[in-house]
Amino acid sequence: MRAAILVLSDKGAAGQRVDKSGPALKKWLSDQQIETVLTKLIPDDLTTIQKTLIDWCDNSIADLIITCGGTGISPRDVTPEATKAIIERELPGFAELMRAKSLAITPMAILSRAVAGIRNSCLILNLPGSPKAALENLTSVWPAIPHGLAKIK
Ligand code: MTE
Repeated sequence: MRAAILVLSDKGAAGQRVDKSGPALKKWLSDQQIETVLTKLIPDDLTTIQKTLIDWCDNSIADLIITCGGTGISPRDVTPEATKAIIERELPGFAELMRAKSLAITPMAILSRAVAGIRNSCLILNLPGSPKAALENLTSVWPAIPHGLAKIK
């Protein structure tokens, strides 16, 4: 399995904040023996996110594409909209499980509008932006990911 990480952050892209979530996700994946072939940080811009996801999926750069950030309810949070616009099929169970498990940790979990879906046999998974939230959400759905990837190939 090859993974790619797309971090969405206006402040990170502008150099006003050091991204800790991308490295934390990469390390977690590495601990599971998963190679991260590409990590990119871009602003919370709908068109740029869509173009990047289409490019990564249609060129099969990875089996699992993790987005991190931009799932909340502030006006610039557009990752779910960008993802929904480009996926061929949605996988609602991933978001349902992430929110259900996260609600046991924090009531703030209802603020994430994360979605998951498939495009060109790539599994795209939205995660919230903080390292803690991203890892909690990824951990909750991880057991289904290898089997899920095997099914969509
Ligand atoms: N889920 C878990 N497991 N742990 C968290 O700390 N934070 C929430 C939520 N989901 C959180 C979580 C918060 S505070 C927000 S605003 C939303 O994720 C959206 O985060 P994002 O806008 O960074 O994507």
